Amino acid sequence: NHCFFGASRRLMKRRLYLETFGCQMNVLDSELVLNQLRAMGYEQVSTRDGADVVIYNTCSVREHVEQKVWSRLGELREIKASAPHMVIGVIGCMAEREGTDIFRRYPHLDILCGPGELDKLPAMVQSAALSNSNATSPTNTTARQVALTGKNTRRSTTLQAAEDGLETLDLSRSFSPADGRTQAYVRITRGCNKFCSYCIVPFTRGAEVHRPPQNIIEEVRRLADGGYLEVTLLGQTVNHYAYQHGDGRTTTFADLLYQIHEAVPQLPRLRFVTSFPRDFTVEALQAMRDCQRICRYLHIPAQSGSDRVLRLMNRGYTAGQYIELIDRAREMMPDISLASDFIVGFPTETEEEFQMTVELTKHCRFKNSFIFKYSPRPGTHAAQKYPDDIPDEVKRRRNNELLAVQGEICAANNAAMVGQTVDIIVEGEGSLASPPAVDAVKVELGWEKRKAQSSDQKQLIGRTRGDQIVAFNADPKLIGKIVNVKITAARQMTLFGELVN
Ligand code: 5AD
Ligand code: SF4
Repeated sequence: NHCFFGASRRLMKRRLYLETFGCQMNVLDSELVLNQLRAMGYEQVSTRDGADVVIYNTCSVREHVEQKVWSRLGELREIKASAPHMVIGVIGCMAEREGTDIFRRYPHLDILCGPGELDKLPAMVQSAALSNSNATSPTNTTARQVALTGKNTRRSTTLQAAEDGLETLDLSRSFSPADGRTQAYVRITRGCNKFCSYCIVPFTRGAEVHRPPQNIIEEVRRLADGGYLEVTLLGQTVNHYAYQHGDGRTTTFADLLYQIHEAVPQLPRLRFVTSFPRDFTVEALQAMRDCQRICRYLHIPAQSGSDRVLRLMNRGYTAGQYIELIDRAREMMPDISLASDFIVGFPTETEEEFQMTVELTKHCRFKNSFIFKYSPRPGTHAAQKYPDDIPDEVKRRRNNELLAVQGEICAANNAAMVGQTVDIIVEGEGSLASPPAVDAVKVELGWEKRKAQSSDQKQLIGRTRGDQIVAFNADPKLIGKIVNVKITAARQMTLFGELVN
């Protein structure tokens, strides 16, 4: 019986469970990892039970997200005891931040791989799978465990595309129209040089490296030819992009936008995240204004409305300069949609300083804001120099207050859209209650079920160019298409509309 099971196991595809935490960069990394492991004969499964390989692509930006991974790893201890062949990997920012200390706490873990080493993950998985299949006991760890983290050294010089395994990884992405997807990410920079005092990213993703424009354009073109409708350019400080060519020329972020727009006319929508306020040039705003297929959407984190706090955060701009940029963007593009991030309860933040953040939010009228309670990250300047002195209940109250202010702005922004006709990419079937039925907040969080109006009409969900969610009733065969919808009703987080023929 045992032998038979062993034989059939070898004939079956090996099962991979991959869970992703954190930012869009991680989502893209996971896609590339998945491509590589598929090519090795793995199939993705939706539960870790019975998986041959379990990989967590992790985020270190706040402690709360790390804790989720720690608890997952704890749970796997017993599962692995009864399935010693299972390969467990931690990849991404936690692997880089924690290093081999993780092995001491979690001896059942096999692989650690930082974000700068992901091109080597297939070999690591292969080798761990082989060691585990020969293992007599899961506690025999030393021979089995492998770790590759960058410690920021490997990529500290300008990227030599052809030589860089990561560049090959980006370029080798495979996709097919059969995946039925409409939206893709394309990296334009890796890493970050800003060293905002609270942020772990420069330590985990290393120094900033810019990809050659011809590689980026080629990747966008392949995606557009493959049926993708929207490409989002990714960078930790995406607008800081500036590629130095061998002959001394520089391709700036604005140049890159114009070049992609011109070289890939078959792509309906191009967008980019995340922008850094200090680096936003007028040329880049002009590119957004002039190029019709570039979405007028900016995710441009302010972090705080207080100059003193911004200085402690090492952000390199004042609230006044931030507001000036936002005002100029609005003046050039009145229909622009803006989003921000804020950290509340940064060390020593006073109530008055927090109110400056509230005022900045009211002035800028963001489409939405991502609001976080300050979380000290070991090794960062802030964690070393400033005691985390704002009590959690104060952080929570400020968080809720800012959320409420932003919520009112969302509701007003959305209400102002009623009557407009917008083009949306239809992403899938929705399950939102229609406007008057249920309490708005509950709907947004709960994605409650609702009945379709007739058999060939389902509730569909799509996104506008400004990244607003729109729900409307139509035939599901429209999924994956761009359609025009007239907005008929609005909630705080969602718009409702009718298909326009
Ligand atoms: N604590 C709280 N929020 C943080 N962010 C980054 N680091 C921290 C931290 N230590 C937030 C910032 C950033 C977003 C991705 O996460 O607002 O823009
Ligand atoms: Fe972190 Fe600042 Fe870099 Fe953004 S710009 S990744 S907040 S260091």
